[in-house]
Amino acid sequence: MIAMNSPGAQADFNPTASEPGTGSASDSEIASHPETDALLDGELGNSLYRAQFVAWFRAVAPYVHAFKRKIFVVAVSGEAVVAGRLARICEDLALLRALGIRIVVVHGSRPQIEEQLAIRQVPSRFHNDLRITDTAALECAKEANGEIRLDIEAAFSQGLANTPMANADIKVMSGNFITARPLGVIDGVDFQHTGIVRKVSAEVIELALNARAVVLMSPLGFSPTGEAFNLDMEDVASSVASALHAEKLIFLTDGRGLVDADGELIRELSEVAAEKLMSEATLSEPMGFYLKHALRAIKNGVPRAHLVPFSLDGGALLEIFTHDGVGTMIADDDLEELREATIDDVASILKLIEPLENDGTLVKRGRTRIEREIDNFSVIEHDLRLFGCAALYPFPQERMGELACLTVDPEAQGMGDGEKLMKRIEQRARAIGIDKLFVLTTRTAHWFLKRGFTVATVDVLPKDRQRMYNWSRMSQILVKKI
Ligand SMILES: CC(C)(COP(=O)(O)OP(=O)(O)OC[C@H]1O[C@@H](n2cnc3c(N)ncnc32)[C@H](O)[C@@H]1OP(=O)(O)O)[C@@H](O)C(=O)NCCC(=O)NCCS
Repeated sequence: MIAMNSPGAQADFNPTASEPGTGSASDSEIASHPETDALLDGELGNSLYRAQFVAWFRAVAPYVHAFKRKIFVVAVSGEAVVAGRLARICEDLALLRALGIRIVVVHGSRPQIEEQLAIRQVPSRFHNDLRITDTAALECAKEANGEIRLDIEAAFSQGLANTPMANADIKVMSGNFITARPLGVIDGVDFQHTGIVRKVSAEVIELALNARAVVLMSPLGFSPTGEAFNLDMEDVASSVASALHAEKLIFLTDGRGLVDADGELIRELSEVAAEKLMSEATLSEPMGFYLKHALRAIKNGVPRAHLVPFSLDGGALLEIFTHDGVGTMIADDDLEELREATIDDVASILKLIEPLENDGTLVKRGRTRIEREIDNFSVIEHDLRLFGCAALYPFPQERMGELACLTVDPEAQGMGDGEKLMKRIEQRARAIGIDKLFVLTTRTAHWFLKRGFTVATVDVLPKDRQRMYNWSRMSQILVKKI
């Protein structure tokens, strides 16, 4: 049940913190104060750097353990190659492979095919945004794909000392792993050599992966009649991820990821929510196309699909190894079990929290207060039984919210429900313009620290909440920017 983007760790040193609006103060922010510069240049700076480095490295460990030997299919668009990102992307993928992740790279070639067509003065022909590949266009596709393939092989062959590729020694394997069939005639238009994936040679690809090779696939497939077909990178990536039962399908895209109607990045969405988004048809291309194929992979058993901006240096690493990621993650979990509470849930919530109220873990609330505040609660339910709850108390003036009463039934603890509830409260908070969550806890500080909260003092709380702070309880205060 745990979201695979979050196998339980949050870097204390947030590598994304220098991005606007993410994480807490980074070392670069501290260094921007002139009076600290001198200190940071000296012994203090060294020890701060060392401490952050070690903390960061250790924070990555749970992900490394979780993903060892798992298969990631990474789709690199032709646009990423044009933008000059290839060398860096390959360096990052080489690092993933060194960590034991089995990597399949699928590359795109749209701009490169366009370039070839222009050189040969062959007009581009599309119908319903799909390329019609006639014989001349197929020659251009072969040329373009061959060139990119060589560029990728060259990038994986780097090994200069003092670069991330030193000692990498990566072997790249490619082949006729895709059987394709023609797309055929649609609306009376013959797509000729434009094809779709019919079959993936999963067993052979796995042999190559088990030999520690990086498998490289072009958007070309072959039919039993010996014909070549021009395919969509997204179709190939999604089909390969499905056939290999990959852990992740990652599209390195030229956008930020999926955005909502206000232009805000959607960090995470369930399969159900993704389907709804598709049906609303508000997505602009190419995001709609990526989402369509991401969803197809999820339906075929790939647990997570990610849309990650290639323009962000190390985007794939940030998405995989940081708690909140940098793009959009689509998850197979049926998040419908997570919902807002109704008045009918009061008895179950009371049953859940009473033992914790009695042993002092939670502040006593009582039936009447929970009934009155039921709209603040979110709950998690399995098979009609309530297993967890959490509440959000907004302080709109300060744009802050309190995450309270987070509880998971002991029977269901350790399976990620606590984290799901926390994320739901974060979503609810964001939706009403809150940008900082805080929590008061006497026994669970470490759980929150691992999930991006930092220790704070009473004076950071909203004024009204400061007045209600129970000094005899001496709860720890933790804050997270969301
Ligand atoms: C805190 C709580 C909500 C977590 O729920 P959960 O569903 O078990 O959470 P997750 O599955 O996401 O996390 C499980 C991890 O948290 C760890 N964890 C659980 N309680 C912890 C605590 N008090 N301190 C630190 N870590 C804790 C578990 O050991 C497990 O670690 P792992 O990743 O190494 O396996 C649950 O333990 C609970 O109900 N505790 C009592 C109520 C409470 O203290 N609430 C917070 C005050 S508002």
